[in-house]
Amino acid sequence: MKHLILTLFAMLMAMTTTAQRQEVLLTSWRFSHDDAAQNASVHFNDRHWQQVSVPHDWAISGPFDMNLDRQNVAIVQNGEKEATEKTGRTGALPWIGVGWYRTQFTVPAGEERAILNFDGAMSEPEVYVNGQKAGEWKYGYSAFNIDATPYIYKDGRPNTLAVRLNNVRESSRWYPGAGLYRPVTLITTGSCAIKQWGINVETKNLNFADRTATVEVTVSALGCFSSKYSVRVSTHGQDAVLPITYADCLGDITASGPVTLSDVQWWSPEHPQLYDLTVRLEDGNGRIVDQKTVKYGIRTFSVDERGFVLNGRHRKFKGVCLHHDLGMLGAAVNKAALAHQIMLLKGMGCDAIRTSHNMPSQWQMDLCDSLGMMVMAESFDMWRYPKVKNGYNRYYDQWWKRDLTNLVEANRLHPSIVMWSIGNEIPEQGNTEGTRMIRDMQNLVHRHDATRPVTTGMDRIDNALSSGFAQVIDIPGINYRLPRYENAYEHLRHGFVLGSETASTVSSRGVYKFPVVPSRNAVYDDNQCSGYDVEACPWSNLPDEDWAFQDDKPWVIGEFVWTGFDYLGEPTPYDGKGSRSSYFGIFDLAGLPKDRYYLYRSRWNTTEPTIHLLPHWTWPGREGEVTPVYCYTNYPSAELFVNGVSQGRITKSTTYNLQTTKYEPVSPENTALLDRYRLRWNDVRYQPGELRVVVYDEKGKQVGEETVRTAGAPHHIELTADRTDLTADGADMAFLTVRIVDQDGNLCPDADNQVTVKVTGAGSFKGICNGDATSTEVFTRPTMHAFHGALSVGIITTETPGPIRVQLSARGLRPATLTLHSH
Ligand code: GAL
Repeated sequence: MKHLILTLFAMLMAMTTTAQRQEVLLTSWRFSHDDAAQNASVHFNDRHWQQVSVPHDWAISGPFDMNLDRQNVAIVQNGEKEATEKTGRTGALPWIGVGWYRTQFTVPAGEERAILNFDGAMSEPEVYVNGQKAGEWKYGYSAFNIDATPYIYKDGRPNTLAVRLNNVRESSRWYPGAGLYRPVTLITTGSCAIKQWGINVETKNLNFADRTATVEVTVSALGCFSSKYSVRVSTHGQDAVLPITYADCLGDITASGPVTLSDVQWWSPEHPQLYDLTVRLEDGNGRIVDQKTVKYGIRTFSVDERGFVLNGRHRKFKGVCLHHDLGMLGAAVNKAALAHQIMLLKGMGCDAIRTSHNMPSQWQMDLCDSLGMMVMAESFDMWRYPKVKNGYNRYYDQWWKRDLTNLVEANRLHPSIVMWSIGNEIPEQGNTEGTRMIRDMQNLVHRHDATRPVTTGMDRIDNALSSGFAQVIDIPGINYRLPRYENAYEHLRHGFVLGSETASTVSSRGVYKFPVVPSRNAVYDDNQCSGYDVEACPWSNLPDEDWAFQDDKPWVIGEFVWTGFDYLGEPTPYDGKGSRSSYFGIFDLAGLPKDRYYLYRSRWNTTEPTIHLLPHWTWPGREGEVTPVYCYTNYPSAELFVNGVSQGRITKSTTYNLQTTKYEPVSPENTALLDRYRLRWNDVRYQPGELRVVVYDEKGKQVGEETVRTAGAPHHIELTADRTDLTADGADMAFLTVRIVDQDGNLCPDADNQVTVKVTGAGSFKGICNGDATSTEVFTRPTMHAFHGALSVGIITTETPGPIRVQLSARGLRPATLTLHSH
C-alpha cells in the first residue's frame, strides 16, 4: 500500500514537474586531515579547515620526503628477486593517510532529484549528505554517481556534503595523488530525467562516397512512470522521436533508434569533427521535462587480419602511454594543462594516448575528442593478484564489474576512444584462472559497448599463449619483448599484434654521458640518464628497435611508447637511490622536450620538417675529446661542420631490414640499426664554437640547416608562453618556458640559477617545475633552480578579466617580463 502511494505520488510529481536540469561543478570546499565521525555532521563547524578549490591534490605541495614511501620490496615486474629498500616509488609526497572534504549546496526550487557525480576520488571515498552515508566507492580512478535524492533538503536549506578519503601505503606503483583530484558535479533534475551517462550514439554505417551516415541513438531515463513520455532527439539538422524500447514499473525507460544524417564529416585525429545531439524528454502534453546536449563523433573503426582501420584507412598507432599526473599540478586535473599536453603530443605527430593504467578523466577525453587524439582507455594495473601489497587486489572480486561498467558507461560517447584495456601486465596472464577472468571481463565490456575492441598489455606473452589468455582478447597487446613478437604472431589466431607498451628508454633533459654506449641498465652517480637516447631498461629497448618492427612487419599495428611525459614516482633506474620521478618521458616532468621528442617527431610528424642536433655544444674541459653528434631529422642525409670544418656527409642506412636481417637487440657491438633512423657522427672532437648541420632530401637537394653554438656566461632570462590569451574563469592556465641564455640568446646548458616568479594582475602563480627527477624543491612555491638552463612555470587566471604581468628574476641575470591577457 505504502509503495503504491509512493508510486502514485511520484507519478503525480512527474506529471507536474517541468524543472530544468542544472549541472553545477562543486569547486569550493574545506579540507582537513582530522579523521572524526562528526566531520560528516550538518552541525560540524568546519571554519578552521583549509579552504581549497576542487579539483585538489592534497599532497602536491609536499614537502618531498624520501621517508614517506620507503619500503623494502622486490619489484618483480622489473625482474628483481631480492627485496631491497625503495624510496620515491610513489613520488615521495604525502599522499598516504585520511583526508576529509566538506561543502554545501542547495537544490533549486522545483527540482526532485540530486545526483553527485565524482569523476574519480583518491581513494576509497565515502560520501555523506546531511550527515547520512549516501554511498561509497573504492578504486580512486573510477567515475561514479551517488544518488543523493533520499538525503537532500529541497526546501532551499543548504545541504551538507562531506567526503572521507583514505589512501593506504603500498597501494600504488606510482604517485596516485590524493583527494578530490577530479571534478565533483551536482546534477539536479525533475523526477523524470535522463540518466547520468544515459545517452549513447553509435555509428552504424558511414558512406564515405556520399557522406551519409546512420547513427543509433539510445537514451535511458528514470522516474518516468507515465507511458506518455516521449524522447525527441535533434542533431545535424535532423529531428526524430525515438521509439521506447524498454519500460518497467520502476519508471526506467529506454528509447533507441536510428537517425540518418547527410553531409557528414567523420571524426579522425587529423579532423576531429564533432556534432551536438540534443535530447528532449517530453511529457504527454508536449512539455519538456528534461533536456541535455552532448557531443559525439561519427567514425568507423575496425581491427581485422589486415590490421587497424580508421574510417576505411589503414594506419598504425603512433601512441604514447601517459600516467595521470600533470607534473607540477600533481593529480589535480586542469583542462588547460591537459590541452597543453595533448597539443605538445600532436606537434610531435603522436595520434594516440593509452591512459596507463587507469580510467581517464572526462575532461581529458573531452579534449581528446575536440583536439583529435585516439585513446586506449585502460582500467587496471592488477586484478586478484597483487603487484603491490595493498593494490587493487583488495577490491577486485567485489568491484571489478562495477568499475568496468562505469569505465564504459561514462566514456562510450567519446569518439576518441578506439579501444578499452582491461589490464596491464596482469599476473594472472599465465594461468587458466586468468583466462577465465579475461573472458568474463571482455564479455562484460562488450555487453556495455559492442562497438569497440578490448585489449590488454601482456609482458609474459609466451605464458599468455600457453594459458590461452592471449587468444581470448580482441587485440593482443605485447609490452616490450620484441624478440617474442614473431612467435606470438605465428601462434595467435588474430593475424596482428599491438605494441601496447614500447621503448622504456630513459633520459634526462640536457644531460649527456660519455663515452656514448648503448646500455640496458646504466646508472650514474648523479642519478641522471644520458640524453643520447641509447639507454633503456633491461626488459625493454630503444625507439629504433620498435620502429624496425613497425616498418618491416606489416602485422604490427602500432605502438604506445612508455611514456609521453615523465611522471611522479617510479624513478627507474634509480629506485631507492633518492629520485622521485621517472626518466622514461619523451617530455620531462616540466613538459619540456627532451632530445627524444625530436627523434619521435622526425618519424611521426609527416607534415613538418624536423632538424635537431645533439648534444649541446658548451663543454669546457672536453676540448679535443670525442663528443659524438647526432642529428634527428626526417631527411635522409646531412653534412656536419665544426667551426666550418666538415665532419662528413652521411646518409641513413637502408640496408637494415627485419625481412632479411634477424633481430638482435642493439648493444655496444651491434649498433647498425641506430643508423637507420638517426644520423650519427661518432668521432667528432669537441672544439668550442659552432656546430652546424646541413640536411638534404632524397634528391640530394639542400633543404635546411641547424646551428648550435657554444654558450657564454649566463646573461638574461628568456620567457615564452604556450598561450597569451586566456579565459578569466579562475582555472585557465598558461605554461611559460623559462630559459637562461647568454647575451646572444644561446641556451646556457649548465645554468642552475635560482629563479623567482612574481605575478600581478588578473592571475596568479600556480606551479613550477624544472624536470630534475632528483629535485626536492616543491612545485607550489614561486621559486626554483633551473635544471640545465630551463624550467617551466604555470600561471592561472582569476575570475576577473585583465592583464596578467609575470616577472622572472634571478640574481646576476637580467630579468624577463611577459604580459598575458585574460578575457
Ligand atoms: C612496464 C609497466 C609500466 C612501467 C614500465 C617501466 O612493465 O607496465 O607500468 O612500470 O614497465 O618500464
